[in-house]
Amino acid sequence: MAGSEHTHPGADVAARAEARWAWIVGAIILFLLAMMGYMSLHWASMPPTRTETIDPTTLHIAGEFVETNLGSVAEPDGTVTVRVLANQYSFTPQCIVVPANTPLHFRGTAADVVHGFSVSNSNVNVMLVPGYISNLQTKFEHTGEHVMPCHEYCGTGHAAMWAHVKVIGKDEFMRQARLAAAAGRRMSCVQ
Ligand code: CUA
Repeated sequence: MAGSEHTHPGADVAARAEARWAWIVGAIILFLLAMMGYMSLHWASMPPTRTETIDPTTLHIAGEFVETNLGSVAEPDGTVTVRVLANQYSFTPQCIVVPANTPLHFRGTAADVVHGFSVSNSNVNVMLVPGYISNLQTKFEHTGEHVMPCHEYCGTGHAAMWAHVKVIGKDEFMRQARLAAAAGRRMSCVQ
């Protein structure tokens, strides 16, 4: 039987085509596996982007998320870091001031249960999980006011859990940031 396979004139052509397709399919599978490996390792397979851990029981006492360290702060590299803490049933700060056309780095966490927020008319959408720091980078092109509701059911007060984002001009933001720094306080929406 083995010998008779090669007597058919199309047998070699078919065998070569089969081998070629086997290589192509194998390459596609390898590419998909490599992509999966890269995504899960590089992005830590946890939304959103990379996550860091933090002890939720000591947030108010020490570390990055103490109340005096929340809100917007201008960084030496020209970006602005915004730290947000979620609690049943409010965000701190209640109103976040950020500059337009500036890279923003949001860092947020939750003290009690899972919360989350989105910012209207933007791509900001993040979950805040106790024990984890959520990181998110964005930029607002225009000045204006945005609402920032909690979008993860967190208890009876969930529907009333809102904050605001106020986007102001970059020069004005930097002026207010200098004033706040000189006075040793964080920026707020009411200057
Ligand atoms: Cu916090 Cu819903």
